[in-house]
This record gives sequence, C-alpha cells and structure tokens, in this order.
Amino acid sequence: MTVRTLDGVAVGGKRVLLRVDLNVPVQDGKITDLSRIERVAPTIQELSGKGARVVVLSHFDRPKGKRVPAMTLAPMATALGTVLGRRVRFAEDCIGLPAQQAIATMSDGDVVVLENTRFHPGEEANDPAFARALAALGEIFVNDAFSAAHRAHASTEGLAHLLPSYAGRLMQAELTALAAALTTPARPVAAVVGGSKVSTKLDLLGNLLGKVDMLVIGGAMANTFLAAGGHKVGRSLQEADMHATATAIIARAKAGQCTLILPVDAVVAPALAAGAATTVVAIDAVPADAMILDLGPRSVAALEAMVGQLKTLVWNGPLGAFETPPFDAATTAFARAVATATQAGHLRSIAGGGDTVSALRHAGVAEQLTYLSTAGGAFLEWLEGKVLPGVAALGG
Ligand code: 3PG
Ligand code: MG
Repeated sequence: MTVRTLDGVAVGGKRVLLRVDLNVPVQDGKITDLSRIERVAPTIQELSGKGARVVVLSHFDRPKGKRVPAMTLAPMATALGTVLGRRVRFAEDCIGLPAQQAIATMSDGDVVVLENTRFHPGEEANDPAFARALAALGEIFVNDAFSAAHRAHASTEGLAHLLPSYAGRLMQAELTALAAALTTPARPVAAVVGGSKVSTKLDLLGNLLGKVDMLVIGGAMANTFLAAGGHKVGRSLQEADMHATATAIIARAKAGQCTLILPVDAVVAPALAAGAATTVVAIDAVPADAMILDLGPRSVAALEAMVGQLKTLVWNGPLGAFETPPFDAATTAFARAVATATQAGHLRSIAGGGDTVSALRHAGVAEQLTYLSTAGGAFLEWLEGKVLPGVAALGG
C-alpha cells in the first residue's frame, strides 16, 4: 500500500479537514447502526489528541446539490459526540461564513462537524471552485472515508490535490486488509460472491477469477449459472439474458484453473415467504413450480469443508434469501464456519457490502471475522480491480 499515512505528520495546532463517511443507516429519524461513526473515532481521537483542530467533512444520503433539511448531518454530529465522549460542535454549512466562524473559534483538539457536503452541487461535480472553498478552511487534508473513495467528488478527490493529504487510520486499515486478501493473499484463497444478479457483478467475477483459487457463487446469481449449464431452476429468480455470459465465465474459470463452486442442492419453496413450507432437492431435481431460495445442506457442508482448507477468504453477498427465515440457514451456517476458522487462527477472512454485514450480524459473528469493511460500493469496486479515485489521490 502506497498511500501517505498519518505516521510522522505534525498536526498539532493545525486545522485538519477530515473526510469521513457519516452516511449511516437511518430509520424514522434514528441512526440504526453506528459502525461507521465508531470506526472513524480512533482517527479523530488521534488527531485531536495531537492537538489538531479537527474539521469533519461528510456527505449523507443523496440530496443532489440542494439543502434538504431531512438530510442534515446534525444528528450524526451528536452521535459522534456520544461515541467520542466529548463535545462536538456543528456548523450549518460546509463552506462560507458558518464554516469559517465555527473554525475560527476552535481551540487545539476541538472537533467540528460541517453540514452535508452534498448540499452543494459542486461536491458531486468535483467542481474546482467548491474544492478550493473547502481547502481554504484547512491546512491539511485527511481522507478516512474508504467507503466513499469510489466517488471522485470534491471532498473525496479534488481536495486531496489542494492540500497536503493523507489517509486516515480507517482508510489505512481498509486498504491493508484488502491488500492482504487479494493482492498478496496466503493461499489457497477463495472468494464467495452471492446476491441476486450476475449482471451487477460481472466485472467483479471477471477480476476475481484471475486472483482466487476457488470462486463460490451463491444467492440467486447461482441460478443463472445453473440455468446456463442446462439445469432446470423452476420459477427461481435468474437472468435469462446472462446465460451466455455465465457460460463464458465458467469457461474462463476452467482455463485459468480457478475452481468455480456452484450449489449441488437447494432449499426450495413455492414462494419467498417467511416460514414457507420448504423442500430440499438435488440441483437437477428442482420442481417446475418451485423457487430456489437457499443452498441445501450438502452444498453448505461442501463449503464448510472448503473453509477448513483455506488460508484466505473474501466474502461479498449472501448465499440465500437470508432476510426471510428459514432461508437464512445456509448463510448463517457458512458465516459461523468462517468465524470459527478465523477465531481458531486458520483463516484470514474479509467481508464487505451492506447485505453481507447484515447477514454476519444476523448470524451473530460480525465481530469474529478478521476484517469487516465499512464499505459497500467502494468494496465492490475494489473487488472489481478498479482504481478508487479517493485512494489514488492519496498516492495509492
Ligand atoms: C455508501 O454508503 O456506499 C457511501 O457512503 C457512498 O454513498 P453513495 O452511494 O450515495 O455515493
Ligand atoms: Mg450507497
């Protein structure tokens, strides 16, 4: 990893613009998951502890360049104060007078959160004038928002070219964990890719094929591969227009000596409904009126056996319709197997993506993997092998 880190950087007495990702899940006006806030807290504590004046920048949701009151960062500033156990002030705009006044009255070690950067159209446009207005507020730029690093926005990319810029500790940890998983992994290394659509994960599958020894395909995506291979999948979710693509991926895996692992059995039901009557069938015996909604026990056992042989595992996407029990069984069993191998010291495990993190929480093992990324889209783009503009701007 070649990004510039905070090691040896003199931040005392300096105004540090710290880009974080406070784009946390909110329901009925309440923050439902503090992870992203908790995970940036150490960087803020370090900077503040060294006497920096920490000016926090973030987006929240997608206000599309307008001031949308419901998308204010004020509640996140309050939550950040609670997590840090200290006073955190809030300024009602991220540029101009409100920001300038809040910053002018800061003492060394203080923390101020500025209002949603996406209230300004210049943010997403990566407008140089907007980036300069942000840059004028500080002396050093620290980007700790790996989860927003796939966006080339003013506060994630443009700003990095205008001030001395460094990766924060969370950004550094994310990059280190991801590099250990795919750039220089201990082998054998497997990737597990689930979720519903092949079409959204094509680039990802293509990139992973060249990097891993085993590629496990789960979720409804597997149905498309099964159907492409001539299996009858009944009424299961699948993408008929992706069969040729799936066939090509199967051929590429063979040629590249990557073992593609598809389900050998399935849990089926007439429809996706909680508590539905289920049947376990072999993968070549899916009834015409049934839907595949989870991996069957033989498939799960095969994955558990695989985990026992692995040194490294990267996981994105649930194996079944885990949000609707009993179709959470395979995902939960697999999550626990991964957690057990990790805790026993046999396996380095990295997972990311919103659904995957929810599935790990649901299985009660979210804290037991080697590394859980805070990123969704950025994690996917990284798995696709793409250059993330927010990382590249830090020298990475
Ligand atoms: C995320 O939650 O994935 C990041 O905060 C980026 O948000 P965005 O998808 O609205 O750019
Ligand atoms: Mg998003």
